[in-house]
Amino acid sequence: KGKYTLGIIKPDLFSQPNCEMQARKIKDLMQRNNVQIIKSHRTQLTKERAEQFYGEHAGKFFYQRLISFMTSGPLELMVLESNKDDLDVITHWRTLMGPTHAEKARANSPNSIRAQFGYSDTRNVVHGSDSPDNAEKEVSFFFPELFEEHN
Ligand code: CMP
Repeated sequence: KGKYTLGIIKPDLFSQPNCEMQARKIKDLMQRNNVQIIKSHRTQLTKERAEQFYGEHAGKFFYQRLISFMTSGPLELMVLESNKDDLDVITHWRTLMGPTHAEKARANSPNSIRAQFGYSDTRNVVHGSDSPDNAEKEVSFFFPELFEEHN
């Protein structure tokens, strides 16, 4: 626990015409900042799967918006690891992403990913697990084989 975190490049990025270049820029930024992608794949979430993943937000005012956005097109799921021993990948990845709201990110963390590539509070281009417990849950939700291999 704590070694991996789940990252997602969200559908707003892949709906852009120059999405491959934009995705490359995000991955370059990750690499420059010691975040390694150890597994990834592109997929599209069904409504059922998105609702399972975001169960903790069920009932919140933005929930329907969040589910329809996250199922609107392809996204990229990534298992992330730090390549430095003293770097906690979970908090470090969240710092690189910046605040949830893209506008707030532009005001407070202009170099963050959401500041550079995000549009709004829902369409904020990236996801990162927010705690060691959630990181473990989220990584195993999308990459169960990663845990089976080591057991
Ligand atoms: P994420 O970190 O992936 O997980 C929950 C998501 O809900 C979040 O990113 C946003 O996309 C969305 N979200 C969180 N807060 C709000 C909000 N206040 N308004 C709209 N969407 C939100």
